[in-house]
Amino acid sequence: MEISKVGVLGCGLMGSGIAQVAATAGFDVTVFELEQKFLDKGFAGMEKSLTKLAEKGSLAEAPGAIRARLKGTTSPQDLASCDIVIEAIIENVAEKRKIYASLDTIVKREAIFASNTSSISITELMTATRRPDRFIGLHFFNPVPLMKLVEVVRTVATAEPVYEAAYAFAQKLGKVPVRTSDKTGFIVNRLLVPYLLDAIRAYEEGVGSIEDIDNAMKLGCGYPMGPFSLLDFVGLETTYYITQVMYDEFKQSRFASPPLLKRLVMAGWYGRKTGKGFYDYSDPSHPKPNRL
Ligand code: CAA
Repeated sequence: MEISKVGVLGCGLMGSGIAQVAATAGFDVTVFELEQKFLDKGFAGMEKSLTKLAEKGSLAEAPGAIRARLKGTTSPQDLASCDIVIEAIIENVAEKRKIYASLDTIVKREAIFASNTSSISITELMTATRRPDRFIGLHFFNPVPLMKLVEVVRTVATAEPVYEAAYAFAQKLGKVPVRTSDKTGFIVNRLLVPYLLDAIRAYEEGVGSIEDIDNAMKLGCGYPMGPFSLLDFVGLETTYYITQVMYDEFKQSRFASPPLLKRLVMAGWYGRKTGKGFYDYSDPSHPKPNRL
């Protein structure tokens, strides 16, 4: 099961990161987006990231050679000959099922379909296609060019050679794959989400300030970011969505959103991307905790 041509659906933060690491690892990559402006934005992000990595001497080739393997398209037909198609579009079941169903008739039968979803059931997505045996989860972490982990997710229908090919593919990307199965949240979010929600509850209960809770976990546990910085980094609307899916799956209070998270999302304070979340990013290099 040879993988040489990679398709990526979506050129946002995750899609562009996945496309970048695949091209860096030597694969020919075609990235699909609905509109050219989304491709332009994603490609500009890749350019910045590749330049940064080249400056640090972490690339084996010049950025130009890597860019030459990357192609953007707004035509789904351009994905027809891909060996694997990795979807990283908006976290919406209906949208994901729609795009998989339409690509199922376009992309060659032998190709593997993968989803980068962090919480939606892979099984639910796979039933939009007629290739359930060739359907897996490949969950990357933000920022994709730096984070080493990929969760490789099997369903009850995944064929063993497909799973092993996907696992080997993740290794070829220079990542460290872990094996997991289709239970909402997989390994990382199963453990990370209750921790992040507990940090919000601790703040709501007056255990400490936003800054002190962040510093406590950073300096006391050696985490690269405290929970509030990480929440703002991941995106509060993304985390809120994940809590809803996880709570719906497990019906356990540890996955339920604290009121403050919901309020911030309703207010449109999504974190770094909107300039406001638990911190204010008016001066991005010196975020200030908001009074909440
Ligand atoms: N490409 C290339 N370089 C990048 C980059 C990218 N995409 N993003 C950051 N960098 C570089 C920065 O430019 C910086 O370079 P210099 O040292 O030359 O200045 C370097 O990486 C370090 O970055 P920062 O100085 O900004 O900050 P940092 O030392 O804290 O590192 C970090 C940043 C790697 C993101 C680190 O803070 C970290 O590991 N944070 C935790 C991230 C995390 O937990 N991610 C998972 C989130 S959960 C998820 O993604 C899944 C889900 O389902 C929600």
